Amino acid sequence: MKKILILGATGSIGRQTLEIIDANPLDFKLIGVSGFNNTSLLIEIIQKYELSIASVKDSIQAEKIKKINPNIKILIGEQGLIDFAGFNPEEDITLINALVGMVGLKPTLRAIGINRNVLLANKETLVVGGHLIKEALKKSSSNLYPIDSEHSAIWQLLNGENKSSVKRLIITASGGSFRDKARTELEDVSLESALNHPNWSMGSKITIDSATMINKGFEIIEAVYLFDLGIDKVEAILHQESLIHSFVEFEDGSITAQIAEHDMRLPIHYAMYYPERKESIAYKLDFMKLNNLHFKKIDFNRYPCLSYAIEAYKIGGSMRTVLNAANEIAVRLFIEKKIKFLDIERIIKEEMEHHQVITFPSLEEIYTIDSEIKTRIYNQY
Ligand SMILES: NC(=O)c1ccc[n+]([C@@H]2O[C@H](COP(=O)([O-])OP(=O)(O)OC[C@H]3O[C@@H](n4cnc5c(N)ncnc54)[C@H](OP(=O)(O)O)[C@@H]3O)[C@@H](O)[C@H]2O)c1
Repeated sequence: MKKILILGATGSIGRQTLEIIDANPLDFKLIGVSGFNNTSLLIEIIQKYELSIASVKDSIQAEKIKKINPNIKILIGEQGLIDFAGFNPEEDITLINALVGMVGLKPTLRAIGINRNVLLANKETLVVGGHLIKEALKKSSSNLYPIDSEHSAIWQLLNGENKSSVKRLIITASGGSFRDKARTELEDVSLESALNHPNWSMGSKITIDSATMINKGFEIIEAVYLFDLGIDKVEAILHQESLIHSFVEFEDGSITAQIAEHDMRLPIHYAMYYPERKESIAYKLDFMKLNNLHFKKIDFNRYPCLSYAIEAYKIGGSMRTVLNAANEIAVRLFIEKKIKFLDIERIIKEEMEHHQVITFPSLEEIYTIDSEIKTRIYNQY
């Protein structure tokens, strides 16, 4: 039985992970969870499972939880998330990182530091700190497994293959909520329409990231780190049905694809059971849907955020922190209805243009840049 800690249990990935645990009680034992704003769901989860540990936003939440379960160990705030990831270091526990945003970086490093396996949905961790994660992995016996449909697809497709025979990885993109709109129509789009993703039901930040397509840029960066390939070997293509999750093209001309319904419970299940394959609760594909698949080249002028992400990766160092910080705060401002949709890309561009790059930023430098950018931009609106 695998023991599981979930960072971000109240979110979209976190809740789907709980469904998998519920469906497989003999295979998984939930040890602890973290939550943030959704106190009622966090309390529900704590009441339902016999947990040893919880990490919460603040002392008010901690008080509430103590009343319900006086025996549970409670951690608070950002340091709490790090200590949570390192809970009982001698025990064989898997950490599932389903946090959103850069807040997931330090907990991931902590888990790797104690040789704990990490199943990573939190892509911002690799975008910002991929170089630190790679360094940490070299000194650790941890495995880092992706929880993202595209990366799970590539992981499955590379199984048993020699990486040197890979010509390119091709990640598919649904195109997000505004895929049928021209750029000229994006000026006054509403938050509600941006949150209405055609294929996936996800947390609000990644849904907006999909609409701007910066999410695809993040995924390209993620793939570079996860599969150790140059960025020129990773491409994205529009595929509106989201049934093929990625392709791998090999040197001999063969192209393989991973195909499944768009249901995140499959990549989560795959990572949780790896290297085994077991019956999953994910929706199964109706083969006839494959009669009607569409593919289109991505127009980078239509989705400038995708270009910014690739540019930030190529420039490297602290530029990736700038990309992510500007995006995180701009998306937050858009969700709070303080800026317009197209302001997101404008803010990212301006921040990147004004940044003096640090080539190998330390963890401290990353956090300082992140905080400085977020505070400055937020205070402008
Ligand atoms: N959703 C998907 O289908 C999907 C697919 C692929 C990859 N991903 C990636 O997976 C990650 C999670 O996505 P999601 O859609 O599950 O996001 P989500 O629904 O917004 O959930 C995020 C989780 O993180 C917690 N959280 C948010 N801000 C926090 C903070 N500052 N400190 C501590 N905890 C915080 C939230 O707590 P509260 O809810 O209690 O506030 C929630 O539990 C993201 O990196 C995303 O890009 C998601």
